[in-house]
Amino acid sequence: MNRTSNHPSTQTSIRISTPTSIPQSLRDPARQPVFWVRDVPVFGDVILAPMAGFSDLPYRSLCQEFGSAMSYTEFVSAEAIVQGGGERTRQMLAANPQEYPVVFQIFGNDETLLVEAARRIEALGPHIIDVNMGCSVRKISGKGAGAGLLRDPSKIGRIFRALTRAVSVPVTGKIRLGWDEESRNYLEVVRAMEENGASLVAVHARTKSQGYSGQADWDAIGEIVAATRLPVIGNGDVVTVADVARMKRHTGCAAVMVGRGAMGHPWIFQGRDRHQVPFLEKAPVIAEHFRRMADFYGQDMALILVRKHIARYLKGYSGIRDLHQRLVQVSSVAEFHGLLQAVAERLHPGEASVALPGDGGQAQWKPLAAQTRRA
Ligand SMILES: Cc1cc2nc3c(=O)[nH]c(=O)nc-3n(C[C@H](O)[C@H](O)[C@H](O)COP(=O)(O)O)c2cc1C
Repeated sequence: MNRTSNHPSTQTSIRISTPTSIPQSLRDPARQPVFWVRDVPVFGDVILAPMAGFSDLPYRSLCQEFGSAMSYTEFVSAEAIVQGGGERTRQMLAANPQEYPVVFQIFGNDETLLVEAARRIEALGPHIIDVNMGCSVRKISGKGAGAGLLRDPSKIGRIFRALTRAVSVPVTGKIRLGWDEESRNYLEVVRAMEENGASLVAVHARTKSQGYSGQADWDAIGEIVAATRLPVIGNGDVVTVADVARMKRHTGCAAVMVGRGAMGHPWIFQGRDRHQVPFLEKAPVIAEHFRRMADFYGQDMALILVRKHIARYLKGYSGIRDLHQRLVQVSSVAEFHGLLQAVAERLHPGEASVALPGDGGQAQWKPLAAQTRRA
């Protein structure tokens, strides 16, 4: 795969290194790709959804080790990239060398900016570039970006035509079913993508006006699978391992994307449901997740950002409210580990001995500092 951009305009102040080829761990010749995104093999069919504030490098890398088959970044503004990208943009476009394939997701409403942003980030080495056409947040979709693009399929066609000519990596898109119930134009949108060089479509089976309410319409995913030759990733309301199989059966999609069902539950990528994983096993993983966050963001920021993950990891447990409250207010790693131990003791009385990782654990993990200083 050509991983260097030919464009002189790819100079950018964002400097990050990402994997340059298929990691050794996936090179086992017995391991067959489940599907291809043009010339990029994908070795599994359950994928962590891009989620702003959640699918950052620390959590993505954890989920990838648990089996998530593609690594989508949080969505990144094309405008921010073109303006040079601040620290937050840099963080969102960082990837671990073990992640494969890495998908950089961008959003915007302006064709020229999207193309320029894609050119610049291609130089950072993603395997795929994805266009967000699903964000329903008003300040984004209302300006014609995210799901706002769905209102203009011919513009989508123009964007894909320009993007696929501008970069050498495959260009993909993540869509919703349409703007609202009256304009469910998903077949038209997918056709515009396919005719203009897209290599995959991921479908969150709701309209923009539905937001996250109502049921995802898996029939519509099946209709798209039948209508296109592109690989289709199905998404929406997959929470359990049984749901993964059910969506695949129901729609014939190439892979299933899991969002909220994977929050605080990377084990879904191992084919295990929340209740099947004892907290004694969860605690060291939570500690490792936090360690990666501290490596990546620095300890102070990690202590704040980890709170939302803690809330997800502890969801559904009763009798630990006091410990939960203390966990989201911790100010040191020692205190964090002590409280995880206390939760384990409360949930598994008499058997709670939790081995929490020390600094030497997880040799494969490369801290951000090692990744960003190379360029
Ligand atoms: C907190 C949060 C942030 C999200 N951020 C993004 C994003 O950056 N890009 C994107 O394409 N979708 C984003 N989504 C949508 C998810 O990728 C997914 O389509 C949606 O949650 C439906 O899947 P689920 O039912 O498995 O959660 C986000 C969803 C949530 C809940």
